[in-house]
Amino acid sequence: MSEILAIGSYTETDMEGLREMRARVVESLDAMRGLPEAERAAVRAVAYKGHHDFGADEMALLPGLGVIANYGVGYDAIRIDAADAAGVRVTNTPDVLNDDVADLAVAMLLMQQRRMLAGDAHVRSGAWAGGESFPLNRKVSGRRAGIMGLGRIGRDIADRLAAFRMEMHYHARSEKETPGWTYHADPVSLAREVDYLVVALVGGPETENYVSKEVIEALGPEGVLINISRGSTVDEAALLDALEAGRLGGAGLDVFRDEPRVDPRFHALETVVLQPHQGSGTHETRAAMGKLQRDNIAAFLDGRDLLTPVN
Ligand code: 8YV
Repeated sequence: MSEILAIGSYTETDMEGLREMRARVVESLDAMRGLPEAERAAVRAVAYKGHHDFGADEMALLPGLGVIANYGVGYDAIRIDAADAAGVRVTNTPDVLNDDVADLAVAMLLMQQRRMLAGDAHVRSGAWAGGESFPLNRKVSGRRAGIMGLGRIGRDIADRLAAFRMEMHYHARSEKETPGWTYHADPVSLAREVDYLVVALVGGPETENYVSKEVIEALGPEGVLINISRGSTVDEAALLDALEAGRLGGAGLDVFRDEPRVDPRFHALETVVLQPHQGSGTHETRAAMGKLQRDNIAAFLDGRDLLTPVN
């Protein structure tokens, strides 16, 4: 029996690390629920990789649980109030993924504005060779960018866009020290002032539909929304309505409400770039996330300070 239970689908690199720690690995929360009582009772640490709710009921099934080490910076799937009540510590994997997520945000913006998917199809289909010219698209450098949520990832996205000589605006809970970027206390005012709005909010109930119908409409028919945070932060029905009616220019989306199921209305839209929640999905970053997750568990079991605690 193991005192470490890993829940989720792990890469071979992570599996090696988990095996070294003699962790028991199960695919899902359902599989955890199905473990014999004695196995569940032995668990002191959970390595969690998933986006389904890990709440009071799940914690109650693991009476010896002391720590949940989340694989990801966003821990909105884990009920922190329930963890506090059960005396369970929670950790996440901040910082190690900032570069990849910021890179993807910028890439989706460039793909959307330069119509790179259509350009690729234009070459492959033989249309270009056949003499058909590709329509002109929009210049990205020098435009106005807004960042919604200037945390660590938001900051890395802003730094990248600033290097494109953009006029920088942001919205956050409070004004931050920046190299002269314009702060907007109101998200609608931010959206009204920019061409591109990049959402880098934390997930969870407090940011549910934060990018509201009003924000989307304020961004307008030439505006582009990029979301690398959580599907829950955007009013997806309002987003689809605005895109379909041309009241929003376009979008680049790595996250969705009901992922991995994506509303088929998105498939019909040429103005959107869709990605399979792969912001942190590189070999390098996923290995670093897995290592940080395991290092947090090792610290807990050795009685050392947690590396990246949440509560
Ligand atoms: C996921 C993420 O953790 O870090 C986050 O918050 O959303 C991702 O890195 C990853 O998809 C594994 O589930």
